[in-house]
Amino acid sequence: MKVIETAAGMKRARRQESGSVGLVPTMGYLHKGHLSLVSRARQENDRVVVSVFVNPTQFGPSEDFVRYPRDTERDLAMLAREEVDVVFMPPVEEVYPNGFNTSVEVGEVTERLEGACRPGHFRGVATVVNKLFNIVQPNRAYFGQKDAQQAIVIKRMVTDLDMNVEVVVMPTMREEDGLAMSSRNVYLNGEERHAALVLSRSLQQASDLHKRGERSAEGVRRAMTALIEAEKLAEIDYVSVADASTLAELDTIAGPALVSIAVRIGKTRLIDNTILGTD
Ligand code: PAF
Repeated sequence: MKVIETAAGMKRARRQESGSVGLVPTMGYLHKGHLSLVSRARQENDRVVVSVFVNPTQFGPSEDFVRYPRDTERDLAMLAREEVDVVFMPPVEEVYPNGFNTSVEVGEVTERLEGACRPGHFRGVATVVNKLFNIVQPNRAYFGQKDAQQAIVIKRMVTDLDMNVEVVVMPTMREEDGLAMSSRNVYLNGEERHAALVLSRSLQQASDLHKRGERSAEGVRRAMTALIEAEKLAEIDYVSVADASTLAELDTIAGPALVSIAVRIGKTRLIDNTILGTD
């Protein structure tokens, strides 16, 4: 497994590769969710590149960029076991050198949900993912459904800018008790870890209500909100029932609906989602 830290080195390695390349972009501190993306990339491509880069431009000034968990040695050991070919691990100044002054702005789908709570977040994501695509030139790129809006934004960017990459979105991986895997789960103490189960419970409740015939989006939002508010450590950022492609809030659930939530458990902000109406 090669570890490459420069964009020039990564481009050189790519030029020497004639087969297909799958890219798994990550911010490191890997868990089984990331490994499921790597494993799918392994099945579908001749070579697998994983990028590990905590991207400063997608964090707001009061967010957790500085304390975001990092463990390079552990990440590299995990990726070596998955038989990854290349780990692209650039320092910040390699991605954003002096004078860097360009960004990628995706439209309406970035204005809602995470975009509304975290101004500038998707500009940072779209810009860095665009750069990674240009540097690595992958045939396919792999993202998790846990960041549902991110996947929608990246697909929009790829379509709108005619990028030559297939975006593959893989299901959210969960702990046995339902908590969605996330690098940020490490912030939770024991009591918070238990309280965090309210996220997956509320999504389960949404699915159950939908199965029982509930089609009022407001009915679903209200039930979920009541359940989450009953957990004293939880503070809601949003509970959304939206059209699964435009992310516009729904009145009636008639087709696929993305139910997504952002909830603070103590100081830790967690997101999770499920899709209703696909069966
Ligand atoms: O999902 C993530 O880990 C990040 O947002 C990504 C796609 C690697 C861009 O920094």
